[in-house]
Amino acid sequence: MPHRTDVVVTDLRAEHGVPLLGLGTSRPRLSWTARATGQVPPAWEQSAYEVRVTPQPPVPGAGEEPSWSSGRVDSGDSVLVPWPAPPLRSRERVRVEVRLWGTEDPEPTPFSLPLVVETGLLDPADWTAVPVGPDWDEDPDADHRPALLRREFTLPGPVARARLHVTAHGLHEVEVNGERAGDEVLAPGWTSYTHRLRYRTHDVTHLLHEGSNALGAWLADGWYRGRFGVRGGNRNLYGERTALIAQLEVDLADGGRVVVATGPGEGRDGHAWRAAHGPILASGLYEGESHDARLAVPGFSTAGFDDTSWAGVRRYARDPATLVAAEGPPVRCTQEVLPVAVLTSPSGATVLDFGQNLTGRLRLRVRGRAGDRVRLRHAEVLQDGELYTRPLRTAAATDTYVLAGSEDSGEPEVWEPRFTMHGFRYAEVTGWPGRLHEGDVVARVHHSDTARTGWFSCSDERLNRLHENVVWSMRSNFVDVPTDCPQRDERLGWTGDIQVFAPTAAFLYDVSGFLASWLRDVAAEQLPDGTVPWYVPDIPGGPRWTPPRPGAVWGDVAVLTPWVLHQRYGDVGVLRTQYDSARAWVDLVERLAGPGRSWSTGLQLGDWLDPAAPPDDPADARTDRYLVATAYFAHSARTLSRIAAVLGEHEDAARYGTLADEVREAFAAEHLRPGGRLSSDAQTAYALAIVFDLLPEAERAAAGERLAELVAEDGNRIATGFAGVNLVTDALTLTGHDTTAHALLTETGCPSWLYQVAMGATTTWERWDSMLPDGTVNPGQMTSFNHYALGSIADWVHRTVAGLAPAAPGYRRLLVRPRPGADLTSAAARHETPYGTAAVGWRRTGDRLVVDVDVPLGVRAEIDLPGRPVSEAGAGRHRFEVVTAAEPAHPPA
Ligand code: BGC
Repeated sequence: MPHRTDVVVTDLRAEHGVPLLGLGTSRPRLSWTARATGQVPPAWEQSAYEVRVTPQPPVPGAGEEPSWSSGRVDSGDSVLVPWPAPPLRSRERVRVEVRLWGTEDPEPTPFSLPLVVETGLLDPADWTAVPVGPDWDEDPDADHRPALLRREFTLPGPVARARLHVTAHGLHEVEVNGERAGDEVLAPGWTSYTHRLRYRTHDVTHLLHEGSNALGAWLADGWYRGRFGVRGGNRNLYGERTALIAQLEVDLADGGRVVVATGPGEGRDGHAWRAAHGPILASGLYEGESHDARLAVPGFSTAGFDDTSWAGVRRYARDPATLVAAEGPPVRCTQEVLPVAVLTSPSGATVLDFGQNLTGRLRLRVRGRAGDRVRLRHAEVLQDGELYTRPLRTAAATDTYVLAGSEDSGEPEVWEPRFTMHGFRYAEVTGWPGRLHEGDVVARVHHSDTARTGWFSCSDERLNRLHENVVWSMRSNFVDVPTDCPQRDERLGWTGDIQVFAPTAAFLYDVSGFLASWLRDVAAEQLPDGTVPWYVPDIPGGPRWTPPRPGAVWGDVAVLTPWVLHQRYGDVGVLRTQYDSARAWVDLVERLAGPGRSWSTGLQLGDWLDPAAPPDDPADARTDRYLVATAYFAHSARTLSRIAAVLGEHEDAARYGTLADEVREAFAAEHLRPGGRLSSDAQTAYALAIVFDLLPEAERAAAGERLAELVAEDGNRIATGFAGVNLVTDALTLTGHDTTAHALLTETGCPSWLYQVAMGATTTWERWDSMLPDGTVNPGQMTSFNHYALGSIADWVHRTVAGLAPAAPGYRRLLVRPRPGADLTSAAARHETPYGTAAVGWRRTGDRLVVDVDVPLGVRAEIDLPGRPVSEAGAGRHRFEVVTAAEPAHPPA
């Protein structure tokens, strides 16, 4: 059959793109992108597809089974298309190919390049591995020295394919014959371990051979039993003993199969799991790590190592039904940063400045004598030229390395801690033998290795730095869990923070799998009455947070964040998975509000960190906390009604729609005053009322006027905390006050976004004034320099300054609506949408605005430019020119 060759299918992917190995579902949804390679009409749209699935034999080269084909399926869908073929079984490996037809095309495109996917262990009965840990007694209340585990095994013939399915109680790193399996860090990450413990599947074929082999593992406390949590935290959150759960499955070239799994006693081959202490003396996520290289155990993960002095193992219990495949990428090192300066502090300490606040740890290359001790302390800021660690509270963030002695060999010792993480820009180095050379210490940036998908730049370097800061705070806090901060003794998955930041995150990186996984934990940890914990995974947090009580903005994550994932990624599945959780939340708030529909009870953090709130009471904001709660109630009820409609739950859609109407009325009845004033005459109150559409049409414009007036009265300073920060500029835009929105964005006085930039910030701060204008650190006991919530303005920047927004789920339609600020001469944004690359860039010369737009194939864009009627554009690159009226640089104050 002839093919249409000017359209090709690219980027074929399964579920959230990663992982491809050890997929946790028998019916992975498929997505692909159509790309034009020649002249394709801009209106080209996919009208049908065919999926071909070819099973891959366990022994490569053993002859493929015939392919299965969906035949021609009439559908324009290309994002998260339901698995068309028979469900996959555990460990099944298949090759998938797709071809398309366009509306007018009699012949299809060629088949795409193949995507190979492989399932993990889909049935709990597939697990023979059980948790094993060292067979020695430990004091549950003390620090523990991390253990090593090992086991040898024999393979009777050449290896065709080998998979290692692995997880742990605690943190692990696994080695096969002396080589690391995989490159993930802080594995298995942090989930609500009681309900869900993630495993990953590694291809270890190349590490094995016929004959004697060995598996080795490092085990540390991590979240499982290390000290973790606020106010000193707690130990043994999930259990008192660490253990490894590993199942190595080897397919031999002759068709035989060998399985080596963690378990007690000797295997049939006479080998058993053994345990000993290694060179790590202590390791804690907050504390840091202490490593004595003189105690190294070379070769422990290779065959023939003498383990006669090692202890045996104890077996622990775990329901294999709680072992779940990973849904997103693991934490990895993604970048190395060299110091920009080596400083000598006033007290004489050596301090490295990496020029960037980040999350990660240091790698050393050091030469010295056995027993030399290098100590590294980390901090985000200096005060009076010295490392300033008070904001870390009880997190010692100190790593220690004792050298094995490298003067004889001349080879430097290379070391990096394994099981800890720090949030820092500066590090103080003590005990370095000799002179510190350039390149001896490098900071290795770590976070969940999600793919970058969004970029922004403009003619104002200060805004570019702000945007960079937003990106860095996101990277720093997407460390398996969406955390509040990466440095102090907290690092919890605060639900309110990610609730306001999720739209920004979804633009910058592909967080579809990362957040879908975390939302499952939200549902798992939700109380039977629907209460969403303040942070997830939920751990004890003292009387304020435990047991969790329902609070607006934070609890609304259960409804609003699945909706963001649907809007940005076209993921209907996540709405279905989270539906009960979302409903349970709204139903709970409905009960709490009672027939009056106004939520005016309980612990509410409200507009947390309003800059006018006293440093020691961040909830004491200008906007009444119950106004915030009722506004969010209305918004979540409305959003839930929309979710129900997408899912075809029509009764629910109607019921929650009516509920939303009633709450809206209650809000206005209680909070609206004549002339569009609100009971709290504050930026956040108006932002909520306008963006959540809580006001009668007639009062909306007046509310917008009042908001613009308040901003002007405040000297264009921001006056919101977490509850209004992501809404205030949208509220101004929606009511025709773009100029005021730009004035807020570009203000540099304290508090403002650019105040932080002017103070030298390289990440976004927790408080508007984490650093005070005099350069000292805010005295509040809660002062981080790396929190993403206040960076949630970036979503408006992408949508309104550059003008790139989704107009339909997954960006199947684009809204191109730049509203250039008068101070800017150009701005641009680009986003890898599920349909391909979309971009908007504009340039101003005099009163002319030139706008370039890239629309992916199969997508239509609504073009809404200042002073020009709205139009539509199909795929391809388009240029528009408009004449704009000159605007004053700042609104009259
Ligand atoms: C965290 C937050 C969080 C807040 C709620 C803080 O300690 O860092 O960002 O949302 O507590 O109380």
